[in-house]
Amino acid sequence: MSIQQDKIQELVERRSAAKLGGGQKRIDAQHQKGKLTARERIALLLDPGSFEEFDMFVQHRCTHFGMDASHPDGDGVVTGQGTIDGRLVFVFAQDFTVNGGSLSKTMSEKICKVMDMAVRAGAPVIGLNDSGGARIQEGIDALAGYGEIFERNILASGVVPQISGIFGPCAGGAVYSPALTDFTLMVQNTSYMFLTGPAVVKSVTGEDVDQENLGGAAVHASKSGVAHFSAPSEQEGIGTIKKLLSFLPQNNLSTAPERPTQDPVGRVDDALNDIVPDNPNKAYDMYGVIRSIVDDGEFFEVHKEFAKNIIVGFAHMGGRSVGIVANQPGVLAGVLDINASRKGARFVRFCDAFNIPLVTLVDVPGFLPGTQQEYGAIITNGAKLLFAYGEATVPKVTVTLRKSYGGAHIVMSCKQLRGDVNYAWPTANIAVMGAEGAVGILYGKEIKAETDPAKQAEIAETRKQEYNDLFCNPYQAAQKGYIEDVIEPRNTRFRVIRALATLEGKRQEIPAKKHDNLPL
Ligand code: HXC
Repeated sequence: MSIQQDKIQELVERRSAAKLGGGQKRIDAQHQKGKLTARERIALLLDPGSFEEFDMFVQHRCTHFGMDASHPDGDGVVTGQGTIDGRLVFVFAQDFTVNGGSLSKTMSEKICKVMDMAVRAGAPVIGLNDSGGARIQEGIDALAGYGEIFERNILASGVVPQISGIFGPCAGGAVYSPALTDFTLMVQNTSYMFLTGPAVVKSVTGEDVDQENLGGAAVHASKSGVAHFSAPSEQEGIGTIKKLLSFLPQNNLSTAPERPTQDPVGRVDDALNDIVPDNPNKAYDMYGVIRSIVDDGEFFEVHKEFAKNIIVGFAHMGGRSVGIVANQPGVLAGVLDINASRKGARFVRFCDAFNIPLVTLVDVPGFLPGTQQEYGAIITNGAKLLFAYGEATVPKVTVTLRKSYGGAHIVMSCKQLRGDVNYAWPTANIAVMGAEGAVGILYGKEIKAETDPAKQAEIAETRKQEYNDLFCNPYQAAQKGYIEDVIEPRNTRFRVIRALATLEGKRQEIPAKKHDNLPL
């Protein structure tokens, strides 16, 4: 063998050794837990043969607690670039087989390097987390490493999409990197996120709780909203990340890829003309409306299990990516509460940051009243959604299907929040409040003054009718130019797509400022 061949052979062997991470025994242990390895995850995520790894031979520099006895190549994280559906992405995947995927200073340097490259190249960054947290043997160096990553998460926010997959433990301050990214996906039963684990919870609060109930995928997808997606398996989780990316642009200076469709832009749906029930207190299927108007009936929902009174997600309309926000009359009558406001606001801001037009479907009776909501700062949280819509400069097309009352009317992308094209169905009620409440306030005394209950009911009914005739329709708003048109429900797809096409070159500025002061 020539010297050159020897050296090439050495490279091949070094690569093979590095690919084993913490060794076959630990790989087997990872599989026994029902988990894939970092490399297997990357292989599933990226187009075959597209992965180019960086820093495969990086080793930690720690000498404490016997750490200098072992220097596995790669140091607990696999990083690099590749493509998904032919589009460039940068990726890091923590390798639990090396010191439990714990974060060393060198690991953080590897992660920061791909994040910097992603920002320079204007491509999404995907982090697959599976880590025991700060590498304890490295002390403050590991904490500094987290700080470096967090700072990059912050600076990259709104520049390139950042997606976090949680595929194992993610505890302590480590949770803040995913929390700073745009979307977090958790795998059911094998991943968890919490600031302090069950033992610390028990010692501080006396509360008995296991990992799954403290910070499992189900908890974060439905109760806290920390996770936008929860997947039954790693394979499905990776599929969800890929699907999500298909709706997103590469960066804040580009637009999402178009997806050609056979679904005719002019397709009408007669069923929509009958979907709103006569009884204003009866619900109907908002998902049905969404599927009816988007391309091929395909809706990719975000935060599916969290704050179900509002629906958010991506779809294509006329081949273009759109963000859909819709009140859900089937859950809490579609009322806006703290969680719905947070969920909506985060989504609207993401879409605005990444040039994804917003289509808003309104059927909202108002904000949820009560001490729980007031003490929890529904005022501040509701203001988040209001702020998000008001500052958004992407095309905003709004359709009011039924109720649009009071403050909630304004929040849901009304004309005065620079809604571009606002339509209403003939069934829309755009008013300060519903007839019941209004009559109680305006005519309560008159009604109470009447002693005969039958007469009381008659007065109330007459007054309600008057109020309904005057306000509970879309025509007051239409007469004043607060909506562009009253449209037949069956034509909604066509009208929305035409409005979006008109707005494609929309230009709108916000005043120069360092940054806004969103009510946090
Ligand atoms: C160094 C670690 C480690 C860590 C795990 N390992 N966590 N090494 N630093 N943080 C090592 C283990 O010693 C073990 O090494 C290997 O990884 C696998 O760990 P196991 O415990 O055998 O695995 P498992 O039973 O699956 O348990 C996983 C675990 C547990 C629940 C994550 O390892 C654990 O509780 N780790 C400590 C978690 C923690 O307290 N981290 C610090 C949080 S504070 P060997 O050689 O035996 O295979 C923090 C601050 C961040 O992160 C602040 C940011 C601002």
